[in-house]
Amino acid sequence: MACPTRRTKIRTVTVHLGDRSYHVRIGAGVLSKLGDMAGEVTDGRLAVVVADGTVADLYGRAATDSLTSAGFRAELLTFPAGERNKNLATFSSLMDELLSLEPPIDRSALIVALGGGVTGDIAGFVAATALRGLPWLQCPTTLLADVDASVGGKTAVDHPAGKNLIGAFYQPGGVLIDVEALRTLPVEELRGGLAECVKHGVIRDASLLDAIDSNVEPIFACDPEVMTDLVARNVAIKAAVVAEDEREAGARAHLNFGHTVGHGIEAASGFGTLSHGQAVSLGMVAESRVAVERGIFDRTDAARVERLLERLGLPVQLTGLDADEVWRIMQHDKKALGGRVRMVLPTGPGTVDLYDDVKYDEVAAALASLG
Ligand code: NAD
Ligand code: GLY
Repeated sequence: MACPTRRTKIRTVTVHLGDRSYHVRIGAGVLSKLGDMAGEVTDGRLAVVVADGTVADLYGRAATDSLTSAGFRAELLTFPAGERNKNLATFSSLMDELLSLEPPIDRSALIVALGGGVTGDIAGFVAATALRGLPWLQCPTTLLADVDASVGGKTAVDHPAGKNLIGAFYQPGGVLIDVEALRTLPVEELRGGLAECVKHGVIRDASLLDAIDSNVEPIFACDPEVMTDLVARNVAIKAAVVAEDEREAGARAHLNFGHTVGHGIEAASGFGTLSHGQAVSLGMVAESRVAVERGIFDRTDAARVERLLERLGLPVQLTGLDADEVWRIMQHDKKALGGRVRMVLPTGPGTVDLYDDVKYDEVAAALASLG
């Protein structure tokens, strides 16, 4: 028998972006408030929920019930789960369904992205482009989407030439995070989100690392109070970074800590061999070691991050990496500038800086040390 939904007090974090500012509401059991939040962001009466098949089966009904209770006509559009479906074909078929609704949609129609980062990215891109822009809400259901993808307005689909190559910055009108949804999330997906939480601690707030360390068991048990607090702290960090640099001209690039080498490792090992979270964990270890060898990051601080990653079940060791291949992929990363690798390196507890002078030898040595 399913456990009844537990409830916590709702926490609110605001993303400050002038007249495009919005609230992120976080708590256990808040999916039932979706209809109320929808009423805050549109005067319309049609809400179109976009979800992958897995999330639609788990939470589609709760979402549409809440919208219907608040007086909306609710439609549910679904697509097959998985990154491989975050593409123009799925975008196009969602758009076909949206544009064939009767009566035809107008610019007050609300899009609700219900799901993980794949759903948020694709539904957000639909919202950004249908009728040149519809109001939309993010309703994330994975930890990665709670703490990262749902905040900041990056929307995209993948292209065979690379991930997220087609998209737009398009901020949602609000974000509603029900941490109870994390109870059905596979543990490997939870770990993927935890890797991003560790990243936030390293780049902005070392005390977050302590909070995670002291709560490993309740985190894996999805304790509602602990998860609400964890998500709220991470959203506050992401919101502050986005408010400082919405278009990634400066500080937002700090969110790439662990991802430069991580992406190289993920691709060089063959996509699917390591999860994204595992690759980011290894990337954070390698990039921290580059910083230690440069003398800009304390060895004990680096060791502390590694110990925490291990406690969370994330990898800190990997053998057999081809450093040449990882470096080649890093040079072709869309965040590299003219083939010049740009890397975020830790410079102290909770501080990082962006470097564009990292050499192949430094990365090769850090990768070798993972073995
Ligand atoms: P995802 O959306 O594919 O979700 C992972 C899996 O979990 C899916 O199979 C999904 O069906 C399932 N799932 C989702 N919620 C569930 C729940 N509560 N219970 C059970 N199963 C559930 O992947 P993700 O890891 O959430 O997101 C990765 C994507 O996010 C990537 O495409 C990445 O590019 C994107 N991303 C975007 C941003 C941004 O700023 N826009 C930031 C980071 C990542
Ligand atoms: N996940 C990186 C960003 O939102 O900028």
